[in-house]
Amino acid sequence: MKSSVEFKQLYASKTPASRELSERAQQVLPAGVVANVKYFAPYPLFMQRASGSHLWDADANEYIDYCLAFGPLILGHGHPAVVHAVQESLAAMGTTVFGTPNELEIRYAEKLMSMLPVSGKVRLTNSGSEATYLALQLGRAATGKPAIARFEGHYHGWHYEGVLSNTPSATLYGDARQPASVAGSRGTPASILADTLVLPFNDLEACRTLLTAHRDRVGTVIVEPSPRGFYQTDPAFLEGLRRLTQELGMVLVFDEVMSGFRAGPKGASGVFGVQPDLMTLGKIIGGGFPIGAVAGRADLLDLTSPLSPGGSVFHSGTFNGAVQVLAAGLATLEVLSDESQMVPFYDATEHFKADIQQLLRRHQIPGHVAGLGANFGIIMSRTPIRNYRDLANEDGALREAFDFACLTEGIYVHPHKPFYTSLAHSLQDFEVTLEKLDHIFNAIS
Ligand SMILES: Cc1ncc(COP(=O)(O)O)c(C=O)c1O
Repeated sequence: MKSSVEFKQLYASKTPASRELSERAQQVLPAGVVANVKYFAPYPLFMQRASGSHLWDADANEYIDYCLAFGPLILGHGHPAVVHAVQESLAAMGTTVFGTPNELEIRYAEKLMSMLPVSGKVRLTNSGSEATYLALQLGRAATGKPAIARFEGHYHGWHYEGVLSNTPSATLYGDARQPASVAGSRGTPASILADTLVLPFNDLEACRTLLTAHRDRVGTVIVEPSPRGFYQTDPAFLEGLRRLTQELGMVLVFDEVMSGFRAGPKGASGVFGVQPDLMTLGKIIGGGFPIGAVAGRADLLDLTSPLSPGGSVFHSGTFNGAVQVLAAGLATLEVLSDESQMVPFYDATEHFKADIQQLLRRHQIPGHVAGLGANFGIIMSRTPIRNYRDLANEDGALREAFDFACLTEGIYVHPHKPFYTSLAHSLQDFEVTLEKLDHIFNAIS
């Protein structure tokens, strides 16, 4: 059985150019990265080129990409329809951003809303973090209540509330049925810790007790309906949360930045048949460009209007609705609404997941494949992950060996993160990957 130490040695020997670039980057960029998610120890890979489902790093090692920039590239890198839309929009409109309204914004919003399981209106932002930030502000303005509730282990972006109790340590997280509010970012103000109620996922009775006790302060509940692409959501829990928030007059926000168009064609809301008041989106809907969106009840979205009678929830952004973002996003949405392409894609991913599960079983690896649709995790534990604390059951050493074995075998997944698939992944890509996984499972078992 090979350990993570051996795979890390192999990683170092195959990737000297990335190590050098990382050392240089650290002189000018904190930890050598522009976003924390891109970092992993001992140093991340520096990619140089991409095409379809493949990546090449600075040492010219080739990878099949199962990270896809953490999800957005559901059509793969450089999809012809996206490239064409970007080039054509620049040629036809002559700019990257107008700073005025333009018709493309209307077409984009109409198309997006026609594909979502919620009806109403939509506001665009530049990232998923901005979208969740806006959704929480809308909830506060609509209910007049300052506090929000969020779930332990879920991620809603890098702002204070987005990352609070995202990965709390066992020494701080308190009682499972009444989780503590733990800062996820240094410098989090005490007022934000006090005004953020942390809930346990999949435990409706605990949520009922906590939300009822705090109903005078809490007006908004935000949740990832299919968290992190690998938690197992109890459908009755989501339905119960919907009913409970309605009873208590709270605004329910489904954060589908990750699960939108990945859990299924209508996201996790579509899979579970539960509708939130507001839905946040990002990643996929920009076709590989920076975007976010808040969609849902028109009375809530209209609070952003400068014409709002009681004063508006101030929301703005120089680059909101930038031309190439919307052109790339619209081209992507067109493909996503073509069932003749999407049904075979989801089917192929399901087969791929089942084949991985079978391999795990054959090699007697204590692991399982979890997640909805085209975003899934290979979890090194036999028990399902139903909430953040279940992650402690994962075999950390096995997980680390697996992550670095993937990188050295030419499977690109960011350590500890889920897998994503794209329409650019061919059946041959999946076959090659299964052969590589066969080797890897053999080596780590
Ligand atoms: C569920 C969820 N919400 C919000 C975000 C933040 O989105 P962004 O990275 O575009 O700011 C992410 C990013 O991974 C996410 O997965």
